[in-house]
Amino acid sequence: MAGKQTVIVTGGSGFIGTNFVRLLVKSGGYRVVNLDALTYAANALSLVDLEGHPDYVFVKGSITDRELVSSLFAKYQPVGVFHLAAESHVDRSIVNAEDFVQTNVVGTYTMLESARAYWKGLSDEKKHSFRFLHVSTDEVFGSLGETGYFNEETPYAPNSPYSASKASSDHFVRAFHHTYGLPTIITNCSNNYGPYQFPEKMIPLMIMNALSGKPLPVYGDGMNVRDWLYVEDHCKAVKLAFEKGQPGDVYTIGGNNEQKNIDVVNQICVILDDIAPPVEIPQLREQGLKSYRELIRFVTDRPGHDRRYAIDSTRIRRELGWRAEVGFEAGLRRTIEWYLSNPDWVDRASGGSFGEWIQKNYAWRAEESK
Ligand code: NAD
Ligand code: TYD
Repeated sequence: MAGKQTVIVTGGSGFIGTNFVRLLVKSGGYRVVNLDALTYAANALSLVDLEGHPDYVFVKGSITDRELVSSLFAKYQPVGVFHLAAESHVDRSIVNAEDFVQTNVVGTYTMLESARAYWKGLSDEKKHSFRFLHVSTDEVFGSLGETGYFNEETPYAPNSPYSASKASSDHFVRAFHHTYGLPTIITNCSNNYGPYQFPEKMIPLMIMNALSGKPLPVYGDGMNVRDWLYVEDHCKAVKLAFEKGQPGDVYTIGGNNEQKNIDVVNQICVILDDIAPPVEIPQLREQGLKSYRELIRFVTDRPGHDRRYAIDSTRIRRELGWRAEVGFEAGLRRTIEWYLSNPDWVDRASGGSFGEWIQKNYAWRAEESK
């Protein structure tokens, strides 16, 4: 364990958390204590490869539990915190924002108070190097028109209950730095995609629906724009900001990859048509499907749907030398292949019968490649 730095990661069993915890542990420099409540968004299969690893500890519990959180600081004496735990889906927040307020606002406040109490008691040297890194979203800035980019100076203007709760948590983080000197860093990132994303978010939802021959529901006119970033690139940025950023710093992070939703859905269909053509899958052939694009349906728009997000990442590129490494077409292909190769994970996530489906409809691929 010598030389390894112990950190607390919250939400390490979610989409970004899973990719992030694996990156930290595999880097060889960290011992990770993952505090996660294992809500619907977590998946017990996501980190099985790290079970029993000497540099990985899992703690099931909520970030709103002050006693538990404080006991973890006391027990593990971390050099810092990566705070990822959150309720993260806009559509759910529109239906009911209660959990968003509890986890994103109260939970972040609880993490900050516990961190502050622990930090106050550290030696000057450890106090100086401690970091509380808060992972946030570009959605706190509201919506862009046809032009312009979000950057570190953009005023907050959250439009959804989700983004309002994240904005609130960002403000608490900022205030704890300003008022108490807690060494915090905030990262505001654009939409992530990649392996382990719960299939309620657009990209995995479209992949899963397509493979089951179900409609692909595109909200409104499909012209809303998101700046997609491959999840591993985001994780590397967060690690870099923790290691090299200064207290009080904020970084906006994006893929420089603006895509209209309808174009993303079309690209998913093109890749699927190539690697899992419907005419070669009995269930979809019987449905008469020739291309997954035939499944696209325009549906009622999301209330308050933000039109466009786009990030200017100049600061993190210039100051920390970060850049996105995975191009969109390659990242999307990698993501689709991951979902096809991990039916057990998808079954757990969807509570469904994807594993069975793969066995029945897709097994010929495994046979073919033998
Ligand atoms: P996710 O929903 O996939 O995972 C969230 C994780 O937090 C889950 O493992 C869940 O069990 C855990 N959690 C929820 N409530 C908890 C609580 N009270 N106590 C402890 N753990 C709890 O989310 P994600 O997409 O991985 O996002 C992670 C973070 O990154 C969030 O803070 C989100 O706002 C932010 N973010 C996400 C994106 C994106 O595109 N997904 C983009 C920018 C920022
Ligand atoms: P989502 O993945 O929910 O992320 P966010 O709302 O945080 O950006 O949605 C991405 C975009 O895709 C967003 O503009 C809404 C749209 N969308 C659809 O068109 N259909 C869907 O079924 C979903 C879930 C999202």
